[in-house]
Amino acid sequence: MANLELLREARFGEIGVKIYEDRSDASVSVARRIANLIKQRQSESKMAVLGLATGATPVKVYEELIRLHQEEGLSFRNVISFNLDEYFPMQPDSKHSYVEFMKHNLFAHIDILPENIHIPDGTLKEEDVEKYCEEYENKIEEVGGIDFQLLGIGRTGHIGFNEPGSSADSLTRMVVLNDVTRTDAAGGFGGKENVPTKAITMGVGSVFKAKAIVLMAWGESKAEIVKHALEGEVSSNVPATFLQHAKGVEFVLDKEAAALLAAS
Ligand code: GLP
Repeated sequence: MANLELLREARFGEIGVKIYEDRSDASVSVARRIANLIKQRQSESKMAVLGLATGATPVKVYEELIRLHQEEGLSFRNVISFNLDEYFPMQPDSKHSYVEFMKHNLFAHIDILPENIHIPDGTLKEEDVEKYCEEYENKIEEVGGIDFQLLGIGRTGHIGFNEPGSSADSLTRMVVLNDVTRTDAAGGFGGKENVPTKAITMGVGSVFKAKAIVLMAWGESKAEIVKHALEGEVSSNVPATFLQHAKGVEFVLDKEAAALLAAS
């Protein structure tokens, strides 16, 4: 196995931070951690419950998991997954849907059982969303909670689609997307006017229930929000700051995303 270039480890309060030379090494290290969890659970004949994220950030983690499946025989038959969020409204076969994203970037290439995949449903009638969200939470509880939650971070400090104003105990629900978030998504949608104004997202409180949480961030454009998340005052203005109060949180960064941290 190749050695991964871990430049530095630090602690910011309760949060462990690992800073890698580049995002590729960082992604491989996260994928190995996920693979170890899956194998550990296999050896106990148990399921591994993963909380999964979309966006550009986790793509290399998924690539490495696919490689481990195809070249090293890692099986995902004991994996149950819950995705963080989905745009609303959204058809699952749209190229913009997170269903399509997950299929393309991970699920189509591994042996996870389709019935074990959960992604919030963007096709519901608005009046059915609340009940659906309650059921999403219940399903997570029924399988014993999330063992490992993967997170990215938006420039507003959102995790999942928990925009500024989200509370620390928020659960899965419908949210209105922030203007910055819609601007950041505009490229993929061919203009901000095409980006849905709403989404269904697991809440900050749902994420906190996970036994382990890894937030990843790459590149200069994330440096400021990463600094704020780790060093800023805890406030619903930047929901990622709530992670300072959660247990079992690790930030995995490349050196550019870590550039503004106090001890860097
Ligand atoms: C979207 C997703 C988030 C993700 C964020 C950052 O808003 N809903 O879960 O963390 O974007 O995206 P990226 O990884 O592309 O920077």
